[in-house]
Amino acid sequence: MSFLDLAWKRRSVRSFKEDDIPMEIINELLEAARSAPSAGNYQPWHFYIIKDKALKEGLCTAAYQQNFMLSAPVHIVVCADLVKSAVRYGVRGTNLYAIQDTAAAIQNLLLCATEKGLGTCWCGAFDEQKVSKLLNLKSERPVAIIPIGYPRNLSAKMPRRSIEEISTFIGF
Ligand SMILES: Cc1cc2nc3c(=O)[nH]c(=O)nc-3n(C[C@H](O)[C@H](O)[C@H](O)COP(=O)(O)O)c2cc1C
Repeated sequence: MSFLDLAWKRRSVRSFKEDDIPMEIINELLEAARSAPSAGNYQPWHFYIIKDKALKEGLCTAAYQQNFMLSAPVHIVVCADLVKSAVRYGVRGTNLYAIQDTAAAIQNLLLCATEKGLGTCWCGAFDEQKVSKLLNLKSERPVAIIPIGYPRNLSAKMPRRSIEEISTFIGF
């Protein structure tokens, strides 16, 4: 599959089969995530890989009861380690780089999952305090909860704005 095909194939999946995800594949997802670029190569990310039913229920509640999350066999919570980025970059590290770095890792993970036939959904709507409490986070900020599993059904690709609308070419 070409990279463009992969990028267009990825879409949010909100309904999952019960089938478990082999550990080798979870490792590949993490390999993809950790290969992402980061400011100063500080890699200020941390991944919580969760199968525990009670914890997944807690995350679902923290995510304003997005109940589809419960059908996923695995949740990955991706966090930004704010201290790692602040040491060198101060406020810009905390407010911008740590989040950008983590987002790059998330996108790599989503694309790798797509390539493996897995479905994912980047969930950003959640109560941060509740998630932090559930995972006992100290200096880490939860950026995304990603339910992962084999898709039960694939929805159509959501439309995208055109290249003309989103681009300005200068000096061509
Ligand atoms: C930062 C961010 C937060 C998101 N939060 C949620 C969420 O809480 N729940 C959800 O179902 N989808 C969430 N999404 C998925 C978007 O709704 C989805 O990516 C968008 O509609 C485009 O559809 P596609 O992913 O199928 O291409 C989020 C996506 C991003 C990038």
